Amino acid sequence: MSAAEYTGLSSNDTKFGDTVYLLRLTNQLRLLYTYIRDVNTSNKNFIFYNNRLIRLLIEETLNLLPLKSQQIITPLNELYQGFEPLVKNTNIVGVSIIRAGESMEFEMRNVLPDCKIGKILIQRNEETFQPQLFYSKFPEYNEQDYIFLLDPMLATGGSVLMAIDCLIKNGYKEDKIIFVNIISCPEGIEIVKAKHPSLKIVTGMIDECLNEKKYIVPGLGDFGDRYFT
Ligand code: PRP
Ligand code: URA
Repeated sequence: MSAAEYTGLSSNDTKFGDTVYLLRLTNQLRLLYTYIRDVNTSNKNFIFYNNRLIRLLIEETLNLLPLKSQQIITPLNELYQGFEPLVKNTNIVGVSIIRAGESMEFEMRNVLPDCKIGKILIQRNEETFQPQLFYSKFPEYNEQDYIFLLDPMLATGGSVLMAIDCLIKNGYKEDKIIFVNIISCPEGIEIVKAKHPSLKIVTGMIDECLNEKKYIVPGLGDFGDRYFT
């Protein structure tokens, strides 16, 4: 399977079924992914272009939340059949998987200043590729809450599965968790879907596969190192 197979597909029109949402491949998206993948891109530009992408991903994720109709009046004194959110912004919780996931909090707060933020520190062991959990802290559980689980890279899926287990132990429901990532791969998507069929995934691009070191190919290398160091 190649990334090219997905070009031009609109959200949710992938072979992975209706819980996987893919950003529409526009010319700007083509450019942004070229910049962030390029080994010659400076750290400053890596941050800048990823922030633009993260903004698009957060907006796309918000599209999955329901609205209700609302009538408003325009400055021309005309009635307009508009909408309002069914989910309050205070019931949207961003949970970042530290370290790389913290890069996504900034744009989440820009779009949703009233959202809450939780954190979970999981590191993938560089030799065994197994995730290790060090710390987690979530806002007090509210059954109305939706979780935007933030991590730019979905590789083997080990880290995000550990984060999801932790969220579920804290009361959150699988069908109210949306995993938001910049680059994913078929291996990671398949395992998350198999274990959590009602959890949604919003991804910017689905790459080809994993290499022997469990890096995404073609990928962008180590996201955390390029964004934070
Ligand atoms: C990276 C990435 C994910 C994880 C993905 O983090 O941000 O959390 O690897 O790999 P997986 O799907 O195989 O678990 P890493 O553990 O390298 O730490 P970092 O955030 O400090 O870069
Ligand atoms: N983590 C990264 O930062 N990049 C990958 O390709 C896989 C895991």
